[in-house]
Amino acid sequence: MEKYYKYKKLEENGFQEFDKSDILSGPLHIAIDITNKCNAKCLHCFNRSGSELLRAEISNNEMLEIFKEMAEVKPFSTCFCGGEPMMKYELVLQAAEILKNGGVPNIAMVTNGWFLTKDRVIDLRNAGLTHIQLSLDGKDAKTHERMRGIKGIYEKVLDALRFIDEAGISSAVAFSPAQFNIKQFPEVVELLQKFDNLREIKVQPLMPLGKAVEGRSELFASEEEYRELVKYIEKFNSQRTYNDKIRVDWSDPLDHLRRFITLNFKNNIFSEIKSDGNLTASAYIPVAVGNLKRHSLKDYWKAGLGKVWDIPVIRELAEFVICIEDMKYDSQELPRIFFEDNIEIDLIDNDVMNHLEDFTLEKLYK
Ligand SMILES: C[S@@+](CC[C@H](N)C(=O)[O-])C[C@H]1O[C@@H](n2cnc3c(N)ncnc32)[C@H](O)[C@@H]1O
Ligand code: SF4
Repeated sequence: MEKYYKYKKLEENGFQEFDKSDILSGPLHIAIDITNKCNAKCLHCFNRSGSELLRAEISNNEMLEIFKEMAEVKPFSTCFCGGEPMMKYELVLQAAEILKNGGVPNIAMVTNGWFLTKDRVIDLRNAGLTHIQLSLDGKDAKTHERMRGIKGIYEKVLDALRFIDEAGISSAVAFSPAQFNIKQFPEVVELLQKFDNLREIKVQPLMPLGKAVEGRSELFASEEEYRELVKYIEKFNSQRTYNDKIRVDWSDPLDHLRRFITLNFKNNIFSEIKSDGNLTASAYIPVAVGNLKRHSLKDYWKAGLGKVWDIPVIRELAEFVICIEDMKYDSQELPRIFFEDNIEIDLIDNDVMNHLEDFTLEKLYK
């Protein structure tokens, strides 16, 4: 009731200070890295999946506890990510079941497609998965496999899209533009038209993070090539009719950082959980704000997980990123986005929200 009156008062004030996290009992969307392990060797992988440089992941049992907590919090949507989540297939099945039984309506997975078979897609659907996103980085095997470093994966992705159609759940495809595939994008869109349940093709600029920056400047497309790509996407979407099912989504991660620091849009209704249990403010900000091995999701929410954009160090790092190149965070010796380098604070143990002035970049890092 108290919350309702607060809401009413804010409504009278034109929602200027309306803080969604005050009326929610947890995040609306939770993305979780099931594992950082991966069978592929992608040239561009931002989190260096599959390499040795990883922190200890939490155990499957600890992961299951997190899923139970998530089911209690009941987000509107969840996404299993990684690494390659299908490396822990049994865990994914159990997780989907827990979330479905807890009443979570949208349960998605992002995968490279290698381990998806017809039977597994059916089992995943029966366990509760409602949506699968696959990665496809070229119009043919030669191009896609050049990016992915694994032979045969192109056919697996196309097979998987067919299995998903047959199982009756929805799918999406993510395309990562690089110098050697960016011009193929219209042909990739064409190739994907035949999949009935494919709803969206997602494109974002290649992030200069992880493997993508390890001596591979030739990976990055030029500004002109990006401009052509965005023009194509704008045109494609503007020509869509009501009956066209596939939408192409161009998302620039800078938008999300700007939105949080410039508009009065600071509630963090999306949460990310890493495979070591860390909670991060954003995939693009190298700060962990807690770890689910120490406290529960509910307790982190009560301690301010929904308001982490009030924390000075997070705002300062977001303000530092003016262009995508800045995400390397290396020009001023800032911590890089790779969780071994993250600044680690704990909303509960450090009582962060009551001592915001202590959590500046200067005090924590330099
Ligand atoms: C990290 S992967 C995890 C899921 C799964 N292993 C896959 O590849 O689909 C999630 C998505 O991030 C994309 N990705 C990886 N590195 C990237 C980078 N440096 N910039 C932009 N997208 C990237 C991948 O192509 C994939 O579509
Ligand atoms: S992008 Fe996905 S498939 Fe490729 S190495 Fe990274 S986690 Fe694995």
